[in-house]
Amino acid sequence: MTEWIARDYASTDETSWLRCRVLALLDTNYYDDVATVKPSREAGLELVATIGDQVIGLLDASMTGSESTIETIAIHPDHRRLGVGQRLLKEICDRLQTRGATQVDAWTRDDQGTLAWYRSQGFEQKMRYLHVYASNPTEAAQAFAAQPNLTPYAGFFHAWEEHENALRTQFSRVYSCRQFVKPLS
Ligand SMILES: CC(C)(COP(=O)(O)OP(=O)(O)OC[C@H]1O[C@@H](n2cnc3c(N)ncnc32)[C@H](O)[C@@H]1OP(=O)(O)O)[C@@H](O)C(=O)NCCC(=O)NCCS
Repeated sequence: MTEWIARDYASTDETSWLRCRVLALLDTNYYDDVATVKPSREAGLELVATIGDQVIGLLDASMTGSESTIETIAIHPDHRRLGVGQRLLKEICDRLQTRGATQVDAWTRDDQGTLAWYRSQGFEQKMRYLHVYASNPTEAAQAFAAQPNLTPYAGFFHAWEEHENALRTQFSRVYSCRQFVKPLS
Protein backbone atom coordinates (compact mmCIF):
# COMPACT_ATOMS: atom_id res chain seq x y z
CA MET A 1 0.00 0.00 0.00
CA THR A 2 1.19 3.55 -0.79
CA GLU A 3 2.62 5.33 2.24
CA TRP A 4 0.55 8.08 3.91
CA ILE A 5 1.95 11.50 4.70
CA ALA A 6 0.95 14.20 7.19
CA ARG A 7 0.75 17.79 5.95
CA ASP A 8 -1.19 21.05 6.18
CA TYR A 9 -4.76 21.09 4.87
CA ALA A 10 -5.22 22.76 1.47
CA SER A 11 -8.52 24.08 0.09
CA THR A 12 -8.36 21.44 -2.68
CA ASP A 13 -8.70 18.77 0.06
CA GLU A 14 -12.19 19.91 1.07
CA THR A 15 -14.33 17.23 -0.63
CA SER A 16 -12.05 14.41 0.48
CA TRP A 17 -11.82 15.98 3.99
CA LEU A 18 -15.64 16.03 4.30
CA ARG A 19 -15.93 12.42 3.12
CA CYS A 20 -13.24 11.23 5.50
CA ARG A 21 -14.96 13.00 8.40
CA VAL A 22 -18.38 11.46 7.66
CA LEU A 23 -16.93 7.94 7.37
CA ALA A 24 -14.81 8.35 10.49
CA LEU A 25 -17.78 9.46 12.60
CA LEU A 26 -20.17 6.85 11.22
CA ASP A 27 -19.35 4.21 13.86
CA THR A 28 -19.29 6.71 16.73
CA ASN A 29 -21.87 8.55 18.82
CA TYR A 30 -21.30 11.55 16.52
CA TYR A 31 -22.73 9.59 13.54
CA ASP A 32 -25.24 12.30 12.62
CA ASP A 33 -22.84 15.24 13.07
CA VAL A 34 -22.40 15.81 9.34
CA ALA A 35 -20.52 18.83 7.96
CA THR A 36 -21.08 19.81 4.33
CA VAL A 37 -18.55 22.66 4.36
CA LYS A 38 -15.22 22.55 6.15
CA PRO A 39 -15.11 25.05 9.05
CA SER A 40 -12.16 27.40 8.58
CA ARG A 41 -9.49 27.57 11.27
CA GLU A 42 -6.44 29.62 12.06
CA ALA A 43 -3.70 29.02 9.50
CA GLY A 44 -1.35 26.22 10.50
CA LEU A 45 -3.85 24.47 12.78
CA GLU A 46 -5.48 22.29 10.11
CA LEU A 47 -3.68 19.01 9.42
CA VAL A 48 -4.46 16.09 7.16
CA ALA A 49 -2.98 12.69 6.50
CA THR A 50 -3.22 11.71 2.86
CA ILE A 51 -2.52 8.86 0.47
CA GLY A 52 -2.20 10.52 -2.91
CA ASP A 53 -5.20 12.86 -3.15
CA GLN A 54 -7.27 11.00 -0.56
CA VAL A 55 -7.60 12.37 2.95
CA ILE A 56 -7.39 9.44 5.37
CA GLY A 57 -7.08 11.46 8.57
CA LEU A 58 -7.71 14.99 9.72
CA LEU A 59 -7.16 17.15 12.77
CA ASP A 60 -8.28 20.76 13.31
CA ALA A 61 -7.34 22.78 16.40
CA SER A 62 -8.04 26.25 17.75
CA MET A 63 -6.36 28.52 20.30
CA THR A 64 -7.68 31.08 22.80
CA GLY A 65 -4.91 32.68 24.83
CA SER A 66 -2.80 29.87 26.28
CA GLU A 67 -5.60 27.32 25.92
CA SER A 68 -6.14 25.19 22.87
CA THR A 69 -8.72 22.70 21.70
CA ILE A 70 -8.82 19.77 19.29
CA GLU A 71 -11.87 20.82 17.26
CA THR A 72 -12.02 17.70 15.10
CA ILE A 73 -10.00 14.52 14.87
CA ALA A 74 -11.15 11.81 12.52
CA ILE A 75 -9.26 8.90 11.01
CA HIS A 76 -10.82 6.99 8.11
CA PRO A 77 -12.03 3.58 9.38
CA ASP A 78 -9.85 1.72 6.86
CA HIS A 79 -6.70 3.39 8.21
CA ARG A 80 -7.02 3.18 11.98
CA ARG A 81 -4.47 1.89 14.48
CA LEU A 82 -1.61 2.74 12.10
CA GLY A 83 -0.37 5.71 14.13
CA VAL A 84 -2.12 8.33 11.96
CA GLY A 85 -4.04 9.95 14.83
CA GLN A 86 -0.97 9.89 17.05
CA ARG A 87 1.18 11.49 14.33
CA LEU A 88 -1.33 14.30 13.68
CA LEU A 89 -1.70 14.92 17.42
CA LYS A 90 2.07 15.10 17.95
CA GLU A 91 2.41 17.62 15.12
CA ILE A 92 -0.44 19.82 16.34
CA CYS A 93 0.79 19.74 19.96
CA ASP A 94 4.24 20.90 18.79
CA ARG A 95 2.65 23.76 16.83
CA LEU A 96 0.32 24.76 19.68
CA GLN A 97 3.18 24.76 22.14
CA THR A 98 5.29 26.90 19.81
CA ARG A 99 2.38 29.41 19.71
CA GLY A 100 2.28 29.55 23.52
CA ALA A 101 -0.38 27.01 24.44
CA THR A 102 0.08 25.40 27.85
CA GLN A 103 -2.65 22.80 27.47
CA VAL A 104 -4.82 21.20 24.84
CA ASP A 105 -8.28 19.85 25.42
CA ALA A 106 -10.83 17.88 23.47
CA TRP A 107 -14.53 17.14 23.93
CA THR A 108 -15.74 13.69 23.10
CA ARG A 109 -18.59 11.29 23.84
CA ASP A 110 -18.80 7.71 25.14
CA ASP A 111 -16.97 5.79 22.38
CA GLN A 112 -14.66 3.36 24.16
CA GLY A 113 -11.98 3.27 21.44
CA THR A 114 -11.81 7.05 21.29
CA LEU A 115 -11.63 7.35 25.08
CA ALA A 116 -8.83 4.75 25.11
CA TRP A 117 -6.99 6.68 22.41
CA TYR A 118 -7.17 10.01 24.29
CA ARG A 119 -5.93 8.33 27.47
CA SER A 120 -3.12 6.61 25.55
CA GLN A 121 -2.04 10.04 24.27
CA GLY A 122 -1.68 11.60 27.75
CA PHE A 123 -5.14 13.18 28.12
CA GLU A 124 -7.07 12.94 31.38
CA GLN A 125 -10.79 13.48 31.78
CA LYS A 126 -11.49 16.78 33.57
CA MET A 127 -15.27 17.24 33.45
CA ARG A 128 -18.37 16.04 31.69
CA TYR A 129 -21.92 17.17 30.99
CA LEU A 130 -24.73 15.60 29.00
CA HIS A 131 -25.88 15.78 25.39
CA VAL A 132 -29.56 14.82 25.32
CA TYR A 133 -31.46 14.05 22.11
CA ALA A 134 -35.23 13.97 21.92
CA SER A 135 -35.26 11.38 19.14
CA ASN A 136 -38.96 10.79 18.56
CA PRO A 137 -42.26 12.65 19.05
CA THR A 138 -42.82 11.24 22.57
CA GLU A 139 -39.38 12.33 23.77
CA ALA A 140 -39.73 15.66 22.02
CA ALA A 141 -43.12 16.25 23.61
CA GLN A 142 -41.56 15.73 27.04
CA ALA A 143 -38.79 18.14 26.19
CA PHE A 144 -41.04 20.86 24.83
CA ALA A 145 -44.05 20.30 27.11
CA ALA A 146 -43.85 23.84 28.44
CA GLN A 147 -44.17 25.45 24.99
CA PRO A 148 -47.76 24.88 23.70
CA ASN A 149 -47.27 26.83 20.45
CA LEU A 150 -44.64 24.39 19.18
CA THR A 151 -45.33 21.01 17.68
CA PRO A 152 -42.20 19.19 18.75
CA TYR A 153 -40.60 16.60 16.53
CA ALA A 154 -37.00 16.18 17.74
CA GLY A 155 -34.44 18.15 19.72
CA PHE A 156 -30.95 18.29 21.20
CA PHE A 157 -30.19 19.69 24.66
CA HIS A 158 -27.38 20.26 27.16
CA ALA A 159 -27.83 19.21 30.81
CA TRP A 160 -25.70 18.87 33.94
CA GLU A 161 -24.73 15.44 35.19
CA GLU A 162 -26.75 15.64 38.44
CA HIS A 163 -29.83 15.12 36.22
CA GLU A 164 -28.34 12.11 34.45
CA ASN A 165 -30.36 9.28 36.06
CA ALA A 166 -33.70 11.00 35.49
CA LEU A 167 -32.83 11.98 31.92
CA ARG A 168 -31.67 8.46 31.04
CA THR A 169 -35.06 7.06 32.08
CA GLN A 170 -36.85 9.57 29.80
CA PHE A 171 -34.61 9.73 26.71
CA SER A 172 -33.03 6.94 24.68
CA ARG A 173 -30.08 9.04 23.40
CA VAL A 174 -28.15 10.54 26.31
CA TYR A 175 -24.37 10.90 25.99
CA SER A 176 -21.75 12.07 28.43
CA CYS A 177 -19.78 14.80 26.73
CA ARG A 178 -16.33 14.68 28.34
CA GLN A 179 -13.58 17.26 28.39
CA PHE A 180 -10.14 15.68 28.11
CA VAL A 181 -7.09 17.79 28.91
CA LYS A 182 -3.39 17.29 28.22
CA PRO A 183 -0.68 19.58 29.61
CA LEU A 184 1.79 20.79 26.98
CA SER A 185 5.27 20.92 28.42
C1 LIG B 1 -9.78 7.77 18.00
C2 LIG B 1 -8.97 7.89 16.69
C3 LIG B 1 -8.71 9.35 16.39
C4 LIG B 1 -7.63 7.14 16.89
O1 LIG B 1 -6.81 7.34 15.74
P1 LIG B 1 -5.91 6.13 15.14
O2 LIG B 1 -5.03 6.67 14.10
O3 LIG B 1 -6.84 5.04 14.74
O4 LIG B 1 -5.12 5.65 16.43
P2 LIG B 1 -3.52 5.54 16.62
O5 LIG B 1 -2.94 4.62 15.59
O6 LIG B 1 -2.95 6.89 16.74
O7 LIG B 1 -3.51 4.81 18.06
C5 LIG B 1 -2.45 4.98 18.96
C6 LIG B 1 -2.75 4.17 20.20
O8 LIG B 1 -3.98 4.61 20.79
C7 LIG B 1 -4.68 3.47 21.36
N1 LIG B 1 -5.92 3.22 20.61
C8 LIG B 1 -6.28 3.73 19.40
N2 LIG B 1 -7.50 3.28 19.04
C9 LIG B 1 -7.91 2.45 20.03
C10 LIG B 1 -9.08 1.67 20.23
N3 LIG B 1 -10.08 1.65 19.32
N4 LIG B 1 -9.19 0.94 21.37
C11 LIG B 1 -8.19 0.96 22.29
N5 LIG B 1 -7.04 1.68 22.15
C12 LIG B 1 -6.91 2.42 21.04
C13 LIG B 1 -3.73 2.30 21.19
O9 LIG B 1 -2.88 2.29 22.33
C14 LIG B 1 -2.95 2.70 19.95
O10 LIG B 1 -1.70 2.06 19.85
P3 LIG B 1 -1.63 0.56 19.21
O11 LIG B 1 -2.46 0.56 17.96
O12 LIG B 1 -0.15 0.37 18.96
O13 LIG B 1 -2.20 -0.35 20.26
C15 LIG B 1 -9.72 7.20 15.51
O14 LIG B 1 -10.06 5.88 15.88
C16 LIG B 1 -10.97 7.91 15.07
O15 LIG B 1 -10.92 8.75 14.20
N6 LIG B 1 -12.11 7.53 15.65
C17 LIG B 1 -13.41 8.02 15.17
C18 LIG B 1 -13.59 9.50 15.25
C19 LIG B 1 -13.63 10.03 16.64
O16 LIG B 1 -14.13 9.40 17.54
N7 LIG B 1 -13.11 11.23 16.79
C20 LIG B 1 -13.12 11.93 18.02
C21 LIG B 1 -14.36 12.70 18.21
S1 LIG B 1 -13.94 14.06 19.24
